Amino acid sequence: MGLFSKDIKTMDDLFLHVLQDIYYAENQILKALPEMMEKATNRELTAAFKSHFSETEKHVQRLEQAFELIGKSPKGTKCPAIDGIIDEAHEIAGEVDDKKVLDAALIAAAQAVEHYEITRYGTLIAWAGELGKEPVAKLLTTTLNEEKAADKKLTGIAEKKVNLKAAG
Ligand SMILES: [Fe+2]
Ligand SMILES: [Fe+2]
Repeated sequence: MGLFSKDIKTMDDLFLHVLQDIYYAENQILKALPEMMEKATNRELTAAFKSHFSETEKHVQRLEQAFELIGKSPKGTKCPAIDGIIDEAHEIAGEVDDKKVLDAALIAAAQAVEHYEITRYGTLIAWAGELGKEPVAKLLTTTLNEEKAADKKLTGIAEKKVNLKAAG
């Protein structure tokens, strides 16, 4: 269902739709991360993917709590944006042979995912505040902060280690 679907009439409908979108996205990320962990060669990068995998499990749980808070059952709605980002990550990971270049590619792909999550949570938090759903806003802010920290950590690994090695 697209953002301009006829089923979305109110701001609450729109909020629910984006919540379902990120719920779908988080579950897809959970499926994609193990492969990224496996493919990464830099030890810090593997560790970063591993710890973000555990955080992502919590993101799914928090979303389930958010659905409960608004009296809905957790449900995902297919999100072509995250599917595209993840497909591209798979493609690029399959094409790069040089391990160090592969690490750089994996970081770039992972940061695209983080930025997608950051934009979605930013929107949801703003809307939750405006719709008087403070407990939901608070819950999602915890997740948003973890996404931002994960993104920052990836930048650090890229700039300090991986990109230099990849550039030879
Ligand atoms: Fe997440
Ligand atoms: Fe994330």
